[in-house]
Amino acid sequence: MNLDRIIAVRNDKTVYHDGNLSIKAFRNSVPMSYILKEAFFLSVAAEVGLDVPALHSVVEQDGRWTLVSDYAKGRALDQLYAQVPTRRSGLLDAFVDLQVRIHTKTYCGLPSTKGLIRATVDGSTLPSSVKLALLRNLEPMPEGDQLCHGDFTLSNVVEADDGRLFTLDWSKACLGVGDDDAAMTYLLLTRTVGEDFAREYLEDYCRKSPTTIYAVNKWVPFLAAMRYAVGNRMDREFYGRYFL
Ligand SMILES: Nc1ncnc2c1ncn2[C@@H]1O[C@H](COP(=O)(O)OP(=O)(O)O)[C@@H](O)[C@H]1O
Ligand SMILES: [Mg+2]
Repeated sequence: MNLDRIIAVRNDKTVYHDGNLSIKAFRNSVPMSYILKEAFFLSVAAEVGLDVPALHSVVEQDGRWTLVSDYAKGRALDQLYAQVPTRRSGLLDAFVDLQVRIHTKTYCGLPSTKGLIRATVDGSTLPSSVKLALLRNLEPMPEGDQLCHGDFTLSNVVEADDGRLFTLDWSKACLGVGDDDAAMTYLLLTRTVGEDFAREYLEDYCRKSPTTIYAVNKWVPFLAAMRYAVGNRMDREFYGRYFL
């Protein structure tokens, strides 16, 4: 494998492109279980019939664990959004259709969103009064068995040259209710694109799903708290205003 062409550099990994392959090389500090989980979730998404880059292997290379998959050739929706303004409303429409389709899928054996929120908040350094309030308010929220991507945002969807949309980055997949996934997407879009676009997204999602803006909004503080708990200073500044 050739690691000359870098696509993305993050704190915990570097993503390379080699011919038809994408090679995600993790830093040694990333637990093996996290890498295998990402590989597992990616294979689940393929098995339930979604368009995702095919997983090839998880192998050690030059002392780093790497996740090797197909390279999704095309342009990510965040690039298209920035570069082709005339396509913005069509992109939003296709993006929401894809998320609604993901939510029609299920798979026994994935973690539950609610359980993950509970564990992350509980194990966080948030003040105990905030933790208690969040955990108490979380209790009546519904469990669900819908496949949720957990990080569904424009940069994680690639439009291939043939027009198909490929969903990347399944590391945060869960089983929940579509509403919790939509709340996460609302937060991510608010942060990366802006409040107006995020509102448009939410309205479109609620037109296409049997839910309401009120129901999705009820999840926002919990998802924000989860990101806050594992985030850096800038994450905390953004997500903190939704629940503190
Ligand atoms: N299989 C792939 N095909 C094409 N591009 C990829 C692939 N995997 C990752 N990338 C690129 O690398 C970027 C970062 O990878 P990603 O898995 O989304 O990690 P993160 O969002 O945590 O940084 C993606 O936004 C995308 O541009
Ligand atoms: Mg990503």
